[in-house]
Amino acid sequence: MNFHIPTHIIFESGALSNIQKVVETCNASRPFLVTDQGVRKAGIADTVLSHFPDLHVCDTIEQNPKSTTINAAAETVRTLNPDLIIGLGGGSALDAAKSIALLATNPGTIEEYEGRHKYTSPPLPVLAIPTTCGTGSEVTWVAVITHVGRKFKMSIKGPHLFPEVALIDPDTLKTLPHHLIASTGMDALTHALEAYTAKPRTLITDLFALKALQLIFESLETAYNDISNKKARESMMLGSTLAGIAFGNSDVGAVHCVAETLGGLYDIPHGVANSVVLPFVMEFNVPVVKDRYAAIARTIGIKEKDDTAAAQSLIKKVKLLSRSVNIPTFQRLNINKDNLREIAEKSFHNNSNSSNPREIGVEEYIDILTRMWA
Ligand SMILES: [Fe+2]
Repeated sequence: MNFHIPTHIIFESGALSNIQKVVETCNASRPFLVTDQGVRKAGIADTVLSHFPDLHVCDTIEQNPKSTTINAAAETVRTLNPDLIIGLGGGSALDAAKSIALLATNPGTIEEYEGRHKYTSPPLPVLAIPTTCGTGSEVTWVAVITHVGRKFKMSIKGPHLFPEVALIDPDTLKTLPHHLIASTGMDALTHALEAYTAKPRTLITDLFALKALQLIFESLETAYNDISNKKARESMMLGSTLAGIAFGNSDVGAVHCVAETLGGLYDIPHGVANSVVLPFVMEFNVPVVKDRYAAIARTIGIKEKDDTAAAQSLIKKVKLLSRSVNIPTFQRLNINKDNLREIAEKSFHNNSNSSNPREIGVEEYIDILTRMWA
């Protein structure tokens, strides 16, 4: 059994105001900030800039970060020679920060580093500050970047891609729009649920995943309806981080394989794609992980004694939760049915396909997608 999380985690409401001290503990004096327009407009970047008025900033990260954007930012970073990359935002900004940190110390473009441990020099240290309740990227060794040429979300992995510090402040959720609380929260739920059922799961990842599921099922609807609720904010943020630790050491599965394909082809928000795919993949996986779904069901208070009934109740609960936080339906995403086979093939070639608990090939993906269209 293997379990590894080298990231120093600081978790506290209001913790962002201590950023100067945190940067000092990283022995850094020339940080570079990677963020996005949403975070800037919400004023969260201003808190960071108030401590570092001369900070260089890249704020052009898209909702599905593109390889071209990463390569352009890396050119700037190589000229400026910073000693710390601060990632501030959702998964997109954090994954971008990790990728830019890698290119700061290694030559070429990000496309050359697809896969596991393809770099030669350790990347610059990263201080990850999540501002959504879904990414988990602040505690994982992976960055997901859209390869623009192939319209494919590639994974860049390596033991040095864990952020040095995760500064997690649930108060950053206060300005997050409702639809992003919903979609990123459903992403975190998917992380935990897939980590709990994926083939590389362990007893340790089970503990993190189950606790994450309990917190998220308890709090997502409340957080969506009233983000001024401190307990709901803290529970969602903690659930998201615990889910990140779980899938970072287990894996995700077929839900993410399809969701990342849809994100690469259609630029659909990652959490929305996960939400619409999740119940259909659960129906597919239920024959091999019925007992696991039943265990999750009982953890979140579903009282069914029979495993089949408990697993089906969980799938129903996932659908209801998704509906109650107004996640759009699959039909509203306007996916071209002519691309069905391409989506299935790209999903099959995703890095995490082999981790899905039930063997799944192109034809099985076509079946799942066909049911989604129906
Ligand atoms: Fe995800």
